[in-house]
Amino acid sequence: MADLSKTAIDAAVAAALAAFAAAGSNAELKAARLAHAGDKSPLALANRAIGELPGPQRKEAGQRIGHARDEVRRALAAREAEVGAAELARRLDAERVDVTLPVSFAPPGAPHPISALIDLVSEVFVSMGWEIAEGPELEAEWLNFDALNITQDHPARATTDTLFVEPLDSHLLLRTHTSPVQIRTLLERPLPVYIVCPGKTYRADEFDATHVPVFHQLEGLVVDKGISLAHLKGTLDHFAKAMFGDVRTRLRPHYFPFTEPSGEVDLECFVCHGASVGDPEHPCRTCKSEGWIEWGGCGVVNPRVLKACGVDSEVYSGFAFGMGLERTLMFRNNAADMRDFVEGDVRFSRSLTGTAR
Ligand code: DAH
Repeated sequence: MADLSKTAIDAAVAAALAAFAAAGSNAELKAARLAHAGDKSPLALANRAIGELPGPQRKEAGQRIGHARDEVRRALAAREAEVGAAELARRLDAERVDVTLPVSFAPPGAPHPISALIDLVSEVFVSMGWEIAEGPELEAEWLNFDALNITQDHPARATTDTLFVEPLDSHLLLRTHTSPVQIRTLLERPLPVYIVCPGKTYRADEFDATHVPVFHQLEGLVVDKGISLAHLKGTLDHFAKAMFGDVRTRLRPHYFPFTEPSGEVDLECFVCHGASVGDPEHPCRTCKSEGWIEWGGCGVVNPRVLKACGVDSEVYSGFAFGMGLERTLMFRNNAADMRDFVEGDVRFSRSLTGTAR
């Protein structure tokens, strides 16, 4: 049975007051409250035991314990107010904001136009269920050339175009196009494949208004059963419309070692739609009054490429395309100088991505 003597009750009160005084934070005070004023505290237990006392003692013990509990409650409330105020003061001090400090007027950056274009293009293809593929910029010579049916004597292999990496017998180079990702995809992914690969490419080119040694391409590759040139044409038309509005594409015969037949893809001028052709009064600076704009290369995947990747060319066929992203932005946004893409002037980025300050 609980000890209801005056000594025991006084001791419980003293212990409670000491614990409250010692608590320096809300958390400590909560622990002290549970121990000394909670349901299982000595005073609460004593209060519950009053009923078991014989009648005459009951009143006296009831008063003593009632006073004791009041005293503990008051002390607790007072200490809660103190500790709460101290914690608030500490927080206000720690989180102080000096509203008189000068504001930074440094203009925020803008997405690079190439990054914004890559996002846009990726969205067009991902929404058709295609996947995004990636490959390294430091590439194996075999993947960049041989597997794509580009023979040893092909001009694109000359060191004047290609940046080989020393030691030369490592047969490593900075990829000259995104086409090696076609090979990587066919070697790594299960068929069928529907991928686009946006990425950086390198060539030992001049640095002038129309050439930069580091630029970007977009590669597309589909390999599936029953794929034909018609699927390529439909895909390019859809891509062109998604990017430029209501325009057509046309294919002109061309040669690429990794596609057969191959073509160059032209885009109907999305500004004059051909109206400027033969009309010197109304020249079009987007298509230079030619009506069509050269966009990239494409074709039906050469069975030799499929064979190099272990794909049965009797069962599977495919198409591929590739275009320069800087070039695409240049005619899409009337950017005249390719050097602007690498010089990092945020005003150029803002003007192309329409990012306001
Ligand atoms: N790799 C070519 C280049 O860099 C572009 C290209 C042409 C890619 C035809 C293709 C293609 O996938 O089918 O000039």
